[in-house]
Amino acid sequence: MHRLNVALGERSYPIFIGSGLLAQKDILSAYLGDEGVLIVTNETVAPLYLDLMVATLGDRKVDRLILPDGEQYKHLNTLDLIFDALLENRHNRGTTLIALGGGVIGDMTGFAAACYQRGVDFIQVPTTLLAQVDSSVGGKTAVNHRLGKNMIGAFHQPRAVLIDIDTLKTLPEREFKAGLAEVVKYGLIIDSAFFDWLEQNVKSLLARDEEALLYAIESSCRLKAEVVSADERESGIRAILNLGHTFGHAVETFQSYSSWLHGEAIAAGMVMAAELSSVIGWLSESDVSRVRRILAQIGLPIAPPENISAQKFLDLMAVDKKARRGTIGLVLLEAIGHATVSFDYDPSILEEIVTSR
Ligand code: NAD
Ligand code: GLY
Repeated sequence: MHRLNVALGERSYPIFIGSGLLAQKDILSAYLGDEGVLIVTNETVAPLYLDLMVATLGDRKVDRLILPDGEQYKHLNTLDLIFDALLENRHNRGTTLIALGGGVIGDMTGFAAACYQRGVDFIQVPTTLLAQVDSSVGGKTAVNHRLGKNMIGAFHQPRAVLIDIDTLKTLPEREFKAGLAEVVKYGLIIDSAFFDWLEQNVKSLLARDEEALLYAIESSCRLKAEVVSADERESGIRAILNLGHTFGHAVETFQSYSSWLHGEAIAAGMVMAAELSSVIGWLSESDVSRVRRILAQIGLPIAPPENISAQKFLDLMAVDKKARRGTIGLVLLEAIGHATVSFDYDPSILEEIVTSR
């Protein structure tokens, strides 16, 4: 088992990564209070891993909540179901929520934990690649709003993250590839050597080779932990984790969160960010080709859907959380392995990028 640390003073926490972790007792006992536990999962993950999760927790009393599956349920009404379960089972401030599932379950459970009785503990047990490399680490929790993705939420760090890579064996191919988009993101924003490694190992990753997966997940978590430790609440450097997200979130909102997967929208968004970086003279055309090539090799989209008009794109991007005084902050690439947030670009170039698809 590998162990990383997210260094955040008194809110620091471990990330456990390995194979067979859900079958091991006691890993989580130090992170559970003396009071209740509510496992929140969904109708897809429950038949696969809920019993295993309960068994890991030993003899303690554990309540379970099985939510409907889908990004379209990541909204305030579903959150109410978590509060119902907590109140009906008389959970108090000493309770611990466990998020067992992908990023949707993790984001909703984390937000419920941030709000319930003004804040209770929670643990992330991510079961998708995307959640294992990104959403379970860093304490961003949220639900979507009809007018914008992840618009209602809170920063609330988990007490621990438990990543059992065996859960990836049941993950559908399309979801697995969507998770790889976020893995590629780390190479692009902060670690060119990791990007080189990804280029060389993309086939092993697609074959879900255990050694390659462990390396990719651990590297991603380590890079994310470093960024989050440096800037927990995104007042600066953390924004680079959103490479491609301003474009991607616009696509997801346009599609009412029901067509492309998050990672697919982010893949197309990262290509658009790379193209814009090239137009302003930061990134070479050959590096833009490397970005396109690796995402295409994985089988991810490298352009946004055709039916979204340029104006609609710009309108949706303007809702982005990085918009300040009317300007959208964009995460751009100065080189592969080096991202920067820029408010200082010619808006006509952004228009050119969304128009010239
Ligand atoms: P998801 O949670 O919808 O999971 C994808 C699908 O896989 C679902 O159908 C789920 O039920 C199923 N599934 C989960 N684990 C499985 C397994 N082991 N075997 C078989 N099926 C399994 O999607 P996701 O890609 O995990 O997460 C996307 C969400 O994460 C988005 O809402 C996005 O906004 C959010 N996100 C949050 C952060 C953050 O920092 N908080 C970062 C990135 C993404
Ligand atoms: N996924 C972006 C972040 O955690 O900041």
